[in-house]
Order: sequence, then C-alpha cells, then structure tokens
Amino acid sequence: MPLTFAAPSSDSLPLHLVEPDALARLTERLDTAQRAWISASGFKARPGEVLMVPGHDGTHALALVGHGSEQERARVRFALGKARASLPDAVFHLVSDLAGDALDEALLGWLLAGYRFDRYRKMQPPGARLIAPEGADAARLEAIAAGEALTRDLINTPASDMGPDELEAAARKLAVAHGASVETITGDALLAEGLPMIHAVGRASTRAPRLIDLAWGRRGPNLTLVGKGVCFDTGGLDLKPGSSMLLMKKDMGGAATVLGLAKMIMALDLPVRLRVLIPAVENSVSGNAMRPGDILTSRKGLTVEVNNTDAEGRLVLADALALADEGKPDMIVSMATLTGAARVAVGPDLAPFYATRSEDAAQLRAAGRRVADPVWEMPFWAPYEELIEPKIADLDNAPSGGMAGSITAALFLRRFVTDTPRYVHFDIYGWQPKDAPARPKGGVGQGARALLAALPELLAL
Ligand code: BES
Ligand code: MN
Ligand code: ZN
Repeated sequence: MPLTFAAPSSDSLPLHLVEPDALARLTERLDTAQRAWISASGFKARPGEVLMVPGHDGTHALALVGHGSEQERARVRFALGKARASLPDAVFHLVSDLAGDALDEALLGWLLAGYRFDRYRKMQPPGARLIAPEGADAARLEAIAAGEALTRDLINTPASDMGPDELEAAARKLAVAHGASVETITGDALLAEGLPMIHAVGRASTRAPRLIDLAWGRRGPNLTLVGKGVCFDTGGLDLKPGSSMLLMKKDMGGAATVLGLAKMIMALDLPVRLRVLIPAVENSVSGNAMRPGDILTSRKGLTVEVNNTDAEGRLVLADALALADEGKPDMIVSMATLTGAARVAVGPDLAPFYATRSEDAAQLRAAGRRVADPVWEMPFWAPYEELIEPKIADLDNAPSGGMAGSITAALFLRRFVTDTPRYVHFDIYGWQPKDAPARPKGGVGQGARALLAALPELLAL
C-alpha cells in the first residue's frame, strides 16, 4: 500500500496543527459553541493529541492536532504521525505555521504512520488522508517514505522468506524499477573471485552466500554503500542463546537500510554514481561451518582469527569493504546491525556512527537533527587497536574482555578501507522495540534519511 498524499482536489476538512501557546489565538477565530467545545474537552495541544470540532449541523468541521511545546517535542518525534490513527476517515488539509524542516517532519510522520507490514495478515490502513500543503515537496517526501517502507518490509520479512536469494531478488527488483544494474557472485564462485570471508561465514547454510553488487548513475561523485546482509544470525557454532536469536531475522538490517537509501537516491535522481555492495549470507550451523579458532585469509590479505563465530558481520563486511575500497570512491558508508554493545551504549533510538573525517561527522549529526533521524558520533579510538590484534594472526574478530565492543568492531572494519579517505560506518539496531509515532513495532530504517539530507554537503552535489 503506497504511502502517499491525497489528491489536492479532494473535498477536505482543515486540520490545525497547533502548539499549546498558540491554542488561545486559534480558538478566538472560532464561534462561541466551538470555543466552548474545545474548552470543555480539555484539549491541551500535547504532541499528537486529537480533537474533532463539530460545526452547527453536528458534523465534523475541523480537526485540532497538538504539536506540543518545544520541550515536549524533544521527547516525541512525529506528532502529526502519532495523531493519524486517532483521526476519523476523512480527507484533511493542513493549516499550520510550520515551514521547512519542521513541516517536512510533520508530513513525513503522517506518511510513515500509514505503514503496515501486511504480507502475512490483512491490516486496515488508516482512514484519514492528508493533502500536502502548497510549498511542501510532496514527491520528495513520498520517495523518502517509499524507501523507508522498503527497509521495513525487508527487515520484517522472516528469514524463511528472506534468505540470501530473496535479498538478491529484492535488490534486482529495485534495480529494474530504477534502471540500475546488478551483478552477483554466488557460492563457491566467492572463493574464485577472492571473497573468502563471505564464503566462510555463509557456507554452512543450505542457502548459498553471495555478494550483491548494484550500480546506478552516470554523473557526479562516487558513493559506495555497504550493508550487512546476514539474513539470519544463529551465531554459528558459538550459537546464540534462544533469547538473543529471537530477533536475528533483522540481521540484514544494514542491507535493508542501504537498499532503502538507494531507492530514495534513485527516485530523487540525485547526481551521484552509486554502488551498493551487500554480502548476503545466513550464519548457520553444519559440519562444514567455520570453527572458533579458525584463521581466515581475507580478500585484502589480512589474516583473521575467528575467536567467535558470532562476530560474523565484520567478516563479511571486511571483504565487501575491501572490494569497495579497490574502486576508490569519494566516500564509503557501511551500515550494519553489528554489535549488541552499540545497543547498550545508545539504545534503540539513536544510530551510532563513526567517521574518518570530523567535518563529515558534524554534517551528518546536523542533518540527522534536521530530518528527525537522530545519529550520534562514536570514536574510531586508535588506542584500542591493540584489542583487535591477537598475535597469531593480523586481526581478532572477537576481542576478549568485551570492552568497547562497538568501537573495536568499527576499528576492525576500518582496517579494510585504506585507499578511500572518507569512510563512515553506522552500527545500527534496525528495530523499533515498541509502537512509536510513525514507527510501529518492527523493522525500522536508521541513518538513511540523515545521510540523504547530508549528501549535498558531504559530496558537494
Ligand atoms: N548481529 C549481532 C549483533 C547484534 C545483536 C545486533 C543484537 C543487534 C542486536 C552480531 O553478529 C553479533 O553477534 N555480535 C556479537 C559480537 C561479539 C561475539 C564479539 C555481539 O555483539 O555480541
Ligand atoms: Mn553474530
Ligand atoms: Zn550478526
């Protein structure tokens, strides 16, 4: 079901998005009965609060939706999205003082509140529809919402229907829709083509591991996105306990997020040469599974001691990053549900990221704030490099001690990017643990909209 605005010609009711301080000024313009109704209702314009106000004939005349105070909005994103489910089945047009980023946030929240994962169960879409106000870039917002919906669908689809093959099919479908090309390297060909760690992680599954390589665009700077596509993470032989395995269908959240971002970039026809690399594997258990203690030789030639088969993401990403680096793009961005430690550090709402250039980090932070996609910089802390050096090989995939787990994973990845000065890595969660405005419980994109907003500055588009 597409996340779109209503046609401008529709008959519509006014929807006033109002802050607590502006409520009195707004009600002054209404008639006595309506003022009494609003006052009797106790409507306070809290974020997402809804009040339908009747006209003289008793039918709906207008809607009031609380935008909340600045302080309240610091706690709740997407107030208008929150309101959508409480509004009656009708078409509305927005009346507000909002402009720019604040207006975009309200409208995007509205669209995303229409998202449902209905592949396995029919679900009622919200009945309330909105006409985009003049001055808003409705097509852009719809493209962003469509990219986010793709990310959510891919994450929400269980591993039974979203293995490496189906992830490749999703990338191909996206490519066909936007005139991109896709090449893949699958199964034992990974060994012949020099992607041994993708093979090592994925070979125990009956579903062949692969590298998906999507390319699009003929003008502008080169941007390579790399997404962790672990379609299910059992932990391998160092098997995860059941409670930790429960959510591991989302371990392709990085791949889902870069595909969603690619969809936005292509739909908006941004002047970039885009490459998307996805190592797609299932981290499974079998007689031929990689073992703890095995030493792998990576594409780049660096040797890696596998001290925990559950630290598989950095292995598959390392080969994909080495390949990305060989292309010497202007910038490489990786996105991955890489460590539990990142969750402990910042929780599910914030997307922690690392950047080799502090100007890039500052631009990303600012862009994330503008578009309500919060991201937070973490350090590539060089003094911890020694933690990933096991002595018997060049690198250790799972340093003992468990300190600074997200940082050591990021440092590990950075070893594979040596010829591309600008590298950004996101250690995302990709999951909304409980229903929130515009984000139902389930898969969610993180960092993609921040990146999209920052691209014009980052790459001087
Ligand atoms: N996919 C997991 C990380 C993860 C777990 C992300 C839970 C989000 C929620 C990853 O492959 C993993 O298992 N990482 C280990 C690494 C450790 C063995 C060094 C972790 O974080 O515990
Ligand atoms: Mn793992
Ligand atoms: Zn994993």
